[in-house]
Amino acid sequence: MSVEHEHETEIYDPVTETPTSYLREGPDAQPPLDSPGYKSTRLRHPTEPLVYLPQTLTEITGPRLAPALGLQESDADLTRQHEGEPIGERIIVSGVVRDTEGKPLRNTLVEVWQANAAGRYAHRWDRWPAPLDPNFSGAGRCVTDREGRYRFTTIKPGPYPWGNHYNAWRPAHIHFSLLGRAFAQRLVTQMYFPGDPFFPYDPIFNSVRDERARERMISSFSIHGTQPNWAAAYEFDIYLRGPSATPFEEAH
Ligand SMILES: [Fe+2]
Repeated sequence: MSVEHEHETEIYDPVTETPTSYLREGPDAQPPLDSPGYKSTRLRHPTEPLVYLPQTLTEITGPRLAPALGLQESDADLTRQHEGEPIGERIIVSGVVRDTEGKPLRNTLVEVWQANAAGRYAHRWDRWPAPLDPNFSGAGRCVTDREGRYRFTTIKPGPYPWGNHYNAWRPAHIHFSLLGRAFAQRLVTQMYFPGDPFFPYDPIFNSVRDERARERMISSFSIHGTQPNWAAAYEFDIYLRGPSATPFEEAH
């Protein structure tokens, strides 16, 4: 079998690989939409019971963004998006995206956004008096490879204050959005760093009530992932909701 042919056989096959339904999570798997400690959820949480819409072909066959994105190397290296280098601790953040059965998911779009080393976002609504970094925008994206791996080079974000309550601080974090083969496969989450002293005081982190689930949001330091004389490294594996049944099982 030629290398080219071998590659062909691994290309996504929309007929055999497109799931036809998704497992809905139990009510305790996610933080409540109205989370009293996180003040603004009171204003924006739904006040009526949610209406579940039946999933149709539109949700389970799209999008297939990866080939159309035209990704460049600097999309995954947030330290090389400007003329100069951003200030801060250079880090590599990487991991594997898996479905509920642990299968690595390739071609998953992973997007990140974060504050700079001083804890300031390059965003017009972020006005707290920490310095902006002209060499850091704080947004990146990449697509998982054939082993389901993603990898970013970035700057370790700083913690920042927010107006939730008196002296409220967010632990250092990186926001993640993942989009798989289907619109129903989107996950938005935050990645934290091990041993952050702000954990006990953050209502967003603690809105996930299950301690073990909270730990799954914390990356781990990886000496093996470090790049000598260049960057420290953290690993953060992500498990997406996956198909609850294959089309074959659905038929029964
Ligand atoms: Fe944030």
